Amino acid sequence: MDKDKTFYITTPIYYVNDVPHIGHAYTTIAADVLDRWYTSGGYDSYFLTGTDEHGQKIEQSAQKRGMTPKELCDEVVQNFKRLWETLNIQNNDFIRTTDKRHEEVVQEVFRHLLAQGDVYKGEYEGWYCVPCETYVPEAQMAEENTCPDCHRPLTKMTEETYFFRLSKYQDALLDYYEKNKDAILPHERYNEVVSFIKSGLKDQSISRTTLKWGIPLPGDDRHVIYVWFDALINYLSAMDFPKEDGKWKKYWPSVRHLVGKDIIRFHCVIWPAMLLALGVNPPVRVFAHGWWTVDGEKMSKSIGNVVDPFEMTELFSRDSFRYFLLREVPFGQDGNFSEMAMASRINSDLANDLGNLLSRSLQMIQKYRNGVLPDFAEVTELDTEIKNLAQATVGEMEEELDRFAFDEALKTLWKLISRANKYIDETEPWKLGKENNAARLDTVLRTLWEVLREVSILLAPFMPDTATNMTVQLGIEPMKRIDWVWGKINCPVSIARGENLFPRLDLVQWEKEKAERDAKKRAKAAGISNSNFEFEPLAEEISIDDFKKVDLRVALIESVTPVPKADKLYKLELNLGFEKRFVVSGIRQYYAPEDLVGKKAIIVANLRPARIRGVDSKGMLLAAENPEKGKEGISIVTILDTTMPQGARVC
Ligand code: ME8
Ligand code: MG
Repeated sequence: MDKDKTFYITTPIYYVNDVPHIGHAYTTIAADVLDRWYTSGGYDSYFLTGTDEHGQKIEQSAQKRGMTPKELCDEVVQNFKRLWETLNIQNNDFIRTTDKRHEEVVQEVFRHLLAQGDVYKGEYEGWYCVPCETYVPEAQMAEENTCPDCHRPLTKMTEETYFFRLSKYQDALLDYYEKNKDAILPHERYNEVVSFIKSGLKDQSISRTTLKWGIPLPGDDRHVIYVWFDALINYLSAMDFPKEDGKWKKYWPSVRHLVGKDIIRFHCVIWPAMLLALGVNPPVRVFAHGWWTVDGEKMSKSIGNVVDPFEMTELFSRDSFRYFLLREVPFGQDGNFSEMAMASRINSDLANDLGNLLSRSLQMIQKYRNGVLPDFAEVTELDTEIKNLAQATVGEMEEELDRFAFDEALKTLWKLISRANKYIDETEPWKLGKENNAARLDTVLRTLWEVLREVSILLAPFMPDTATNMTVQLGIEPMKRIDWVWGKINCPVSIARGENLFPRLDLVQWEKEKAERDAKKRAKAAGISNSNFEFEPLAEEISIDDFKKVDLRVALIESVTPVPKADKLYKLELNLGFEKRFVVSGIRQYYAPEDLVGKKAIIVANLRPARIRGVDSKGMLLAAENPEKGKEGISIVTILDTTMPQGARVC
């Protein structure tokens, strides 16, 4: 790659009507890693993400919530922005399809294509999926009249619409893909797209009259522009297309569009055809990654198994989450997310391999050299082998990341980490220390430190926090990959050994806690409960006769006095209609006397009397206990209808 090369890295712009989940996090983390990797390699990389805000679903949800669609978007876009901050995503820009800068470019593109004859007015009849906002050709229907994606029923619609002349670009697209075999990766996806194009392209409907929430079609305000035509243009509108001095001039077409495999046709058929129509080169590369399932199931809101990235970063750490997603599954293949798989990977790869290498090495530099980094002294073949492996690692990772093989790049880095751990066992520095073999010991310690420094640099795009932590412990400043040279340091280095990078997780305990969390999530999804507390198990079943033994009565609270020397207790004077009596109750912390006097509470009236602090307490006030607060959250049971006479029986 030439040094002045630029990269333009994008994610899909996500629909704001969904809460961000692991799938969105995945694409964006991958894009972030790539962007940081290129930047660290000295390249000029620009990274865009954003949100797709128009369309029927937003219009409908806004209506339900009594808001304008824009108000709703302004609110929910924050979920995505907050997530990117939480995950340490360093995007250069965030585009919203409701940005004025975007809307103007979309209208301009439309006008241009209309004038050129690539857009024309016609009539469309077809089966439409409202949730997916797309017409489904009959050949693609799952069962009869259902959507192949969401399996919901389709609606037959006829509308006047503007078409984009996609069919005209069939040959040009095939020609482009013939000449650019890496334009779509993985190669299976390339083959899929090419055979789809060969099967014949139909003109695409790109406007709607059935909704208001969209970019108005210039010159025909009964129409709005169809969301996909609108959305795809974000990649250019964010780069000030078509301005002559816009960023797109610098970065286009050195594009890396990262997308899920669900939206590949939009990105590899419609989008490049739109670009060809505009006289702009198609993107250099679209990479379509695979699909995450969760514990073997499809992720779904109704099952309640949607993986919340905020929760994962809290439970583990954002670096562990970033690492796991990219290490666990080859980019491009489907994967299964499981917390347990993540926890065991943290233990093996992060705590054992990486964490141990750092702590063992630094501990020895501390112990034998007082924390001051030694220079190489007596270098053997073994040390040279490590150095060679370290140097080869950079190039190998570069090659792997150029083809988006994040998992392989991490494996390559871990080969070096494991080799260095083995090197400690082979060189036995503790023996060298005892033997006073200073020259060998210096070299071994320095070699280990050099490996760790390199690991911190190569790991930084994947795990930025960990890399920073490592550089602090190694006693250096963060550095770009391009500036790194084995053995070259600028000043004397003192290490600053810190905490273990990754404490080991107790997997047995983890599994137990996870089962509890899952049960709660499923209950919440089923709409049973909104709370997160542990429910007390239901008591043993009783008969109606058992119940009738308990005599519950309405009791008017007439007076309330504190019980001396008992700061939790009140003495309540109760009127039961047929008698007056006293009850001692432990509710003093929750109620002032004036909150209680005049209320009609429910008591167990036939409870055997007890003498409490010198008071004869006859009966018991019913109260509910908040399981989250235990005895700290108590609320007495009162009667809503205040005309209910005291003494009435509750049954
Ligand atoms: O399609 N596994 O937005 P979207 C992996 N607005 N990745 C997943 C995933 C999963 N289970 N679920 C979602 C749209 N994704 C359009 C895009 S672009 C001009 C317009 C990721 O919110 C994956 O990247 O439905 C997928 O392509 C994207 O989220 C879909 O996001
Ligand atoms: Mg989608």
